[in-house]
Order: sequence, then C-alpha cells, then structure tokens
Amino acid sequence: MSYECIKVDVADGLARVSINRPDKLNALNIRTICELIESFTALRDDGSVRVVVLTGEGGKSFAAGADIPELREQGLLGGKTFSERGHRLCNLIENLGKPVIAAVNGFALGGGCEIAMACTVRIASDKAKLGQPEITLGTIPGYGGTVRLSRLVPRGLAMELMLTGRIIGAEEALRIGLVNKVVAHDDLEAETSKLAALLMSKPPFALKAVMEAVLHGTEIAFEEGCRLEQDLFAMTCGTEDFREGMSAFIEKREAKFTGR
Ligand code: COA
Repeated sequence: MSYECIKVDVADGLARVSINRPDKLNALNIRTICELIESFTALRDDGSVRVVVLTGEGGKSFAAGADIPELREQGLLGGKTFSERGHRLCNLIENLGKPVIAAVNGFALGGGCEIAMACTVRIASDKAKLGQPEITLGTIPGYGGTVRLSRLVPRGLAMELMLTGRIIGAEEALRIGLVNKVVAHDDLEAETSKLAALLMSKPPFALKAVMEAVLHGTEIAFEEGCRLEQDLFAMTCGTEDFREGMSAFIEKREAKFTGR
C-alpha cells in the first residue's frame, strides 16, 4: 500500500511508521489521520508484526498538531467529525494489542502529543517539546488529550498545561511522567530500536495481556480489574510460550518465544 503523508516499513516483525510532512512539521491533516488509521489497522491485523515504532520524518518534529488551516474551516458538525477521527486513531493505537513506541524526535504538540500519549511508551529526544497549546487557538485538545494527559501526569499539572498551553521540554516531560525516557537526539533511533528488540523478544500474548489488564483493569471497579487479571493470567498459562518460559528457566537457558 502506498501512502502520501506517512511512511510504513515492516522488517523482521518490527514496523516503523513515520508521519511524512516535514515541511509542515508533520502537522496532522485529515489525510494523514486517515492514512494512520489505515496503516495501524493493517499492522494490528498482521500477525507477523510484533512491535510498532511511530515517529516523524525530518528530525525536527514528531507532529506539530492538527493542521491549523484545515481545522480553521471546521464548524460545529465538522469539528465533531474531526475530533471523532482523531479519537478513532488514538483508540486504535492504544488498543493495538502490541506495543507501540513513540519516538518523540521534536515537537509533539496538540494532536501530536495526544497520539504520543496513546502509544504504549514514549522515548523522547532531548530536543523534544511537548504540550497541548490548543487553548491559545481558542479550542481544547480534541484527540483524547484531556483524558489521557490527566491519567498520565498529576491532574493539577494536566490542568495547568491545558489551561495555559505551556510547551515543556523533554526533561520536564520526563519528570512529570509524560515520557518514559529522554535520550540524546542522535541516539533516539538506536535507543528506540533497542527497546523494540527487547519487546520483540517477549511472548506476544503475555505482552497483550499486560496491556489489556493495565488499560482496562484500571478503568473498572478494583475487584473487576483483579478478576480480569486472573482471567488473563489463566489464558497465558494455556500458551506454548508459557511452557517455554517456565521450561527455559528450569533448564537454565534463554527462552525462545514463538507467539503460540
Ligand atoms: N498546522 C499546519 N501547519 C503547521 C503547523 C500546524 N499545526 N505547525 C507548523 N506548521 C507549518 C508552518 O505553518 C510552517 O509552514 P510554512 O513554512 O508553509 O509557513 C512550517 O510548518 C514550519 O513552521 P514554523 O512555525 O515556521 O516553525 P517554527 O520552528 O518557527 O515553530 C512551532 C514551530 C511548532 C512552535 C510552530 O510551528 C507552532 O506553534 N505550530 C503550531 C502548534 C500548535 O498549536 N499545534 C496545535 C494545533 S491544534
């Protein structure tokens, strides 16, 4: 499949998706969001893909938010569709069932920050700048930012960032828990690949089970979350990878997981 606004490369179980509008700092026009939905749907359904890395082309920006000239044209109904489309993408990424690593290589603003937050983990370049500046444009985050930012960082900080539109650097993002790790800009690709390789060495169903337990188990009543964990735990016990992991430990060798 060929895309106009994104690039997708798949090799040896690792998919690399990059937003490809560097002259517009990878601003998210409608076409980009549609292409991302299409590509992530295909990657979700491709059993050979174990891990996805999402980044932006050009070395300066992950994504600088919704395409402002396009957004300006939206009215009440168009705005709702615009927001729903972004939510569809972020929910798809968050529930992909395989880890998605955001390699935040520069600006992750507005919708860019929201997409990064929907990813499973975020590694940031020391040059990254993150924020939800929508308030300065007369609107609010529309791709799940009010909900995800408030769950990732303390609520008071989420409020402050969204009410002021303040853009923060990578170190502050790390300190408040918005990103998992900060690395030197030139090391971002290598560090991301290292994490991707580590995740690809793990049993895929157990990875999926952890993600489902964390994403859904923490949004329901405590006892229901614990029950969900019990069921997912039991399901891992029915996999070949479970036998392999246990046997490898007992036989003092490294486990080789096959995804079965
Ligand atoms: N939508 C559309 N185009 C955008 C964009 C966006 N969100 N963000 C940047 N661009 C475009 C600029 O219009 C410019 O295009 P041009 O060269 O054709 O004029 C190009 O990307 C480079 O941006 P520029 O502003 O010149 O770069 P900068 O380094 O001076 O500033 C930012 C970078 C990110 C601080 C600035 O572009 C910005 O504030 N962008 C908007 C961020 C935002 O509010 N996002 C939320 C949207 S809801």
